[in-house]
Amino acid sequence: LSNEVVVVGSCMVDFVTYTQRLPSPGETIHGTEFVTNFGGKGANQCIAASKLGVNATLIARVGGDSWGEKYIRNLIKHGVDTSFVLKTNGEMTGIAQICVSANGENQIVIVSGANKTLNTLDIEEAAECIKTAKVLILQLETSVDVAVSALKMCSGISILNGAPYTSEYDPALLTLPTIFCVNEHEASQFAKLPVTNKMEAEKAASHLISMGCKGVLITLGADGAVYAEKRTGNIFYVESPKVESVDSTGAGDAFIGALAYLLVRRTELPMEEMVEAACIVAADSVTRKGTQPSFPDEQILEKLGI
Ligand code: RIB
Ligand code: NA
Repeated sequence: LSNEVVVVGSCMVDFVTYTQRLPSPGETIHGTEFVTNFGGKGANQCIAASKLGVNATLIARVGGDSWGEKYIRNLIKHGVDTSFVLKTNGEMTGIAQICVSANGENQIVIVSGANKTLNTLDIEEAAECIKTAKVLILQLETSVDVAVSALKMCSGISILNGAPYTSEYDPALLTLPTIFCVNEHEASQFAKLPVTNKMEAEKAASHLISMGCKGVLITLGADGAVYAEKRTGNIFYVESPKVESVDSTGAGDAFIGALAYLLVRRTELPMEEMVEAACIVAADSVTRKGTQPSFPDEQILEKLGI
């Protein structure tokens, strides 16, 4: 069962404040609560998949500080294979400063610290693991070079989460992955088109296909997701179940983790049903605070109706 899902990506410690509304520039406001959580898109996506019962490995770097050690213990606690989680001495573990408003919106600043020291030699070291992965997942909180070198090794399905957006990237970043997955903001930035509704998302998805993507998934928060595929010319939209939003941080990570689980364990399902199910998992995570602690476990699989 080894190497079902392999994630190359980030570990961040999230410092989260909850407020009535997001502050404006130059403004100081009172918050209502403060918590520290384990986050980072890479680790989040890996744990989201692992919590659903798939075998998951993370390739990442944490700092030589005490957070690094704590982070590795957190991964192990969630059943993640940490053989390729390395420590960079003299660097801090990555951090994210997150503000979540009462209506569930968020604002995030990340300082990548040790994540930026994850390098192509680390990828070489993990080559066997990456090559044999059924699903390989990457994001852009670690370097573009790292993502491109891992994508080149992959012989299974690859999902690149183009987050956060970067203006400087090797075009291979778009052409290599099986699925290029972004939210509406990132889709707009990569496609250089407005993405504020379903119709615009479909246009942006088609445009990203013309830019060389094999498959494009644009997540639209509470509004669901759009998928487009080059090979078949297929394009579809799925709705997301309506839920009371408590904290949408990491919902995209829950979505990707769920999609990876389905691509490994439910290969018989059509893409449309997988995207629908991934939306249900993401929506469920939004009803609880935090990222990793809010991701559903195997029990949700019964509720998916697949
Ligand atoms: O996608 C959510 C994540 O983005 C947070 O956990 C935070 O660490 C940021 O990297
Ligand atoms: Na959540």
